[in-house]
Amino acid sequence: MSGCDRASAFAPASVSNVACGFDVLGFALDSELGDRVSVQRCDRPGVRLLSISGDHGQLPVDPARNTAGVAARSMLERLVARGAAPPDVGIEIEIEKRMPISSGIGSSAASAAAAAAAVDALFGGSTPCGELLGCALDGEALASGSRHADNVAPALFGGLLAVRTLAPEPDLVRLPCPAWLSCALVLPEIAVSTCAARAALGERVALPVAVQQSANLAALVHALHTDDADLLGRALVDLIAEPCRKAAVPGFDAAMQAAREAGALGGSLSGSGPALFALCREAAAGEVPSVARGAAEAMAKTLRGAGVAARSLGVRIAMDGARSRTEIVGAESTTPRAAGR
Ligand code: HSE
Repeated sequence: MSGCDRASAFAPASVSNVACGFDVLGFALDSELGDRVSVQRCDRPGVRLLSISGDHGQLPVDPARNTAGVAARSMLERLVARGAAPPDVGIEIEIEKRMPISSGIGSSAASAAAAAAAVDALFGGSTPCGELLGCALDGEALASGSRHADNVAPALFGGLLAVRTLAPEPDLVRLPCPAWLSCALVLPEIAVSTCAARAALGERVALPVAVQQSANLAALVHALHTDDADLLGRALVDLIAEPCRKAAVPGFDAAMQAAREAGALGGSLSGSGPALFALCREAAAGEVPSVARGAAEAMAKTLRGAGVAARSLGVRIAMDGARSRTEIVGAESTTPRAAGR
């Protein structure tokens, strides 16, 4: 049994669905947006939530009703079951929210992913990826009412991922991220409940819609593999969720048009909204994503014109997630480990 006294993990915010990949595609955002969850061992068995900052009092402090609390408990139970943690150990949790809640950029997933990664790091960090994902999903399911991993997976592992399946074992496919790729992101000051946004979708999709959505998804994957920005733009069309959800964001269609006029390839709602994203082609890798910044501000300006306050950002894709963005302190490792960025 190995481990330390304290550990923390940072999980980045993420964009899910990515237009044509409902519940399938997601990527992590390389920005300051995300959650840091710190955990420490204690003698009293069980999981306790000591503090939450940055949530403006919105999140439950009962660990059984908090996505981080549920993910931490699930992780601890698995560690105890395979002898990696003592059966009588307790965990105390502190959450720093550095992103808005119910905003469409994976807030609940970030809490769950950071908690699962931090508890795993506390006991040696050896949990297989599939199990880690399962524990984070236990937390995410509490908030969204369903087990979908398109936010949790990139929050844990970074990059642009396709969730091929979750059962019987998770099967994640890492897609290439061209060096020129960037993301325009707009955060409108509106709250959208993921549960309600999912309920609005109904249960059935018409066959022609399913066919066109599959074609777009296939084209998007090919575009990423072949560096084809034009094809990527044509593939960024959502016929399943966007038509049912876009009314929640006044000015949505005009904002997406403004993004394209400002140079973006295409986009949609981020996750269940209200955030909007648009993918962009930058002139050079590693530079400030100026095309994305311009497109994001064009979208935000349009929303403001429709009476919606909104913040704009241009960001790159984060290639690492909470699993590699842990720090450990304590008994067996006194040197903080910053495995990620
Ligand atoms: N794929 C999910 C949805 C993401 O669109 O409902 C939000 O959790």
